[in-house]
Order: sequence, then structure tokens, then C-alpha cells
Amino acid sequence: MSEISRAAALLRAGELVAFPTETVYGLGTDAANPQAIAKIFAAKGRPADHPLIVHLPDASHLERWAADIPEVAHRLAAAFWPGPLTLILKRRPSVSDAITGGQDTVGLRVPNHPLALQLLREFDGGVAAPSANRFGRISPTTAAHVREDLGDAVALVLDGGPCAVGIESTILDLSGAAPRILRPGMLDALAIGRVLGAVPAFGGTADAPRVSGSLEAHYAPRTPLQLAAATDLGAIAARALDAGQRVAVLAPHAPGIAHERLVWRVADIDPERFAHDLYARLRELDSLSCNLILVAAPPDDEAWRAVADRLRRAAAGSK
Ligand code: TXA
Ligand code: MG
Repeated sequence: MSEISRAAALLRAGELVAFPTETVYGLGTDAANPQAIAKIFAAKGRPADHPLIVHLPDASHLERWAADIPEVAHRLAAAFWPGPLTLILKRRPSVSDAITGGQDTVGLRVPNHPLALQLLREFDGGVAAPSANRFGRISPTTAAHVREDLGDAVALVLDGGPCAVGIESTILDLSGAAPRILRPGMLDALAIGRVLGAVPAFGGTADAPRVSGSLEAHYAPRTPLQLAAATDLGAIAARALDAGQRVAVLAPHAPGIAHERLVWRVADIDPERFAHDLYARLRELDSLSCNLILVAAPPDDEAWRAVADRLRRAAAGSK
């Protein structure tokens, strides 16, 4: 039996299978099996009222999960699927509360990774999959990250190499009066706006669905992480070194001081490459037993919005 067939058989049996997507690795299970879904929440240590994204083999599966699908959803799917876009749509009544967190909407996406697509086609159904990390920790972008985080909790990890995008999909809510981006991703508002005819607004409204990615403390290393203007990095690092601390710096340029307790990693000046490396870098810097991870604040620019969002949450979550 091929590894994909074995993975599909495990999904049918209600087991957990981790698989690569273009964004991050997902922890997948049969989205139509509530007992299987319960295993995801247990393995991740995730609160049960947080909804999961259902991954589909192609857009023809939309109708099985969503109701009252607006025409624009089909246009976005045609433009961006398979790809790093999750659509929030009104759910069909048959969709389990375990998936939706009891809300009347469901998150759907077709991931763009050959192994994910082979698995979804062979399974021929919806696969519920959060990022394959423990709740609140750094999302995995390699199979090794998944094994480190989840170990025996997962029956099989499909290894598809490092994820191409590196941070989670853009979440676009189409269930309300106007489209809204609930979580920024590398597919940006301008590209979505070209299909919609207007650039969508950011953030939920008061009655909007819950998004765990919207919690302040998220995607966090264990080492305190601080964002600072590039011009301040040297002074902040110097103070920490004077106090006897070990400091890791992630910045495009050297912080201006050399010290045996200071580690500098070069940050890419291209937002796509920065996103691609971000989570692996944070994991690496988190493993160095430093007292502080100092990160140069990214430019205030639309192309950096998703990266800036993850860094801000990593800083909030590490305190
Ligand atoms: O790139 C991704 O989206 C990755 C890969 C594996 O596909 N998945 C991912 O899943 O990031 P997760 O569970 O870590 O984050 C999904 C986010 C959560 O913040 C969840 O609250 C939100 O999607 N979400 C899911 N269904 C929703 C719904 N019906 N309404 C609002 N938010 C929803
Ligand atoms: Mg996640």
C-alpha cells in the first residue's frame, strides 16, 4: 500500500494524520467524524470552541459543506484555489458543531501541496486540520517540527519537505454583509481586492466568528521575544548583555556589537522569504537558551502585514 493510501485509510478509521500544505503542516482527521475531531483537540490541547478549517480536494466540494454560497466565493476559489486562502461561509446544517465551534459558519480551503491534494483526492472528503502544533505554540513548517510537538499523538506524518509559504492562510469571511479579512496571510488584501472589486476590510466585527489566530498570545516561542526598531537593537542588546543575559537577534543588519553571549541571524529583506523562514528561525532561536529574542520590526507596508501580525502575536505570547 502506498503511503498516501495508508494515510487515507487512517483517516477513514478516525485516526490523526499530519500532512504538509503550502502554508504550514496540518493535523488532519475526517471532518465528518466527531469522535475523530475530538482527538485533534486533545492532541493540540486546544479549547473545544475553536473552529477548524475543513480542507477539500477541489472547489466542487464546496456545496457539501457550505450553504447560501455567494457568487464571489466561486470567483475567489477559481482565482486562488488550490492556494493559501480560507473562505468562511454559512455552513450546511449537517456540518458538525465540533468543526464549527457551534457557529453557523464553516472555514474551507483547498491547499496547494501535491501530497495534501493526493491525500484529499484519495480520501474524497473533507479533512479538518488545524496547524499541527500544540495550542499557542509556533506552527510547524517541517515534518520534524510536527514530530517534536506532537510525537505519538499522531498516527502518521506525511513528509513533504519545508512548506513553501511558511505562515498560515489568509482567512476571508464571506458570511457577513461585506467581505472581511479575519487573519492576514501572504495572499494579501490587494490581490483579493482585484477579484472582489474592492479591497476587503480587516478584522472581525462584534458579532463575527471567533478566530483563535486572533488571540493576542499566539505563535509564541518560550523565550521572551521583543520587537524593536532596527536603530534601537544595538542599545537594547547591550543593556541585556550588561545584565549578564544571552541575546538572540533576528535583523537584516548586524546589531553593531559582537559578544560571545550574542547570536545574530540574518533576517531576509524580502517578505516572502522572511515568511518562508520565520517559524523555523523562531524555533531555532528558541532552542539557544537565550534570555531574549530581539527582532527588527518589519517595514510598515502591506506586503509585510501578515509577517508583522505573527511577530506581534509571538511577542505578546512569549511574555
Ligand atoms: O494555513 C492554514 O490555514 C493552516 C493549514 C494547515 O491549512 N491551518 C490553520 O489552522 O492555520 P488553525 O486551526 O491553526 O487556524 C485556523 C483558524 C483558527 O484561528 C480558527 O478560529 C479559524 O481559522 N476558523 C476556522 N473556522 C472558522 C469559522 N467558521 N469562523 C471563523 N474562524 C474560523
Ligand atoms: Mg494554528
